[in-house]
Amino acid sequence: MDRRKFIKNSCAACLSATVLGTALSSCSATKYISGTLGKDGLLVDTDQFINKEKGNASYHSYIIVRNDALQYPICVYRFNDTQYSALWMRCTHQGAELQASGDYLQCAAHGSEFNNKGTVKTGPADRNLRSFPVTVNNTQIFIDLRAV
Ligand code: FES
Repeated sequence: MDRRKFIKNSCAACLSATVLGTALSSCSATKYISGTLGKDGLLVDTDQFINKEKGNASYHSYIIVRNDALQYPICVYRFNDTQYSALWMRCTHQGAELQASGDYLQCAAHGSEFNNKGTVKTGPADRNLRSFPVTVNNTQIFIDLRAV
């Protein structure tokens, strides 16, 4: 193998390993579930927030509910045992689907950002995200979708 070919192949292998590593780490950070869709909303087991990779004392700060019956996913943030927010992942600027990134939801279309309560932090969006009432019992949260 000549020198030029060796360098080209080595760079391609390094790039592939970097991209794959990044993709795998971002997959492990975000948890997707489908929830249980009822007549008035979604039920989600609170156990879904337990981060089993880190032990029972650790929780995911958010999970994303994707369900075929929903036009957009819902990002559910957990603040503590009794406080959650459920945010429609539809950008209020022009309707692109948002991406969750830690405590923020970002729009890849034009750069808007929203915090974990749905408040717009960076435009061009000028309206907060739609959020849904969440009620909590011991083992489940109920996300009321009647206002969708
Ligand atoms: S659609 Fe999200 S910023 Fe434009």
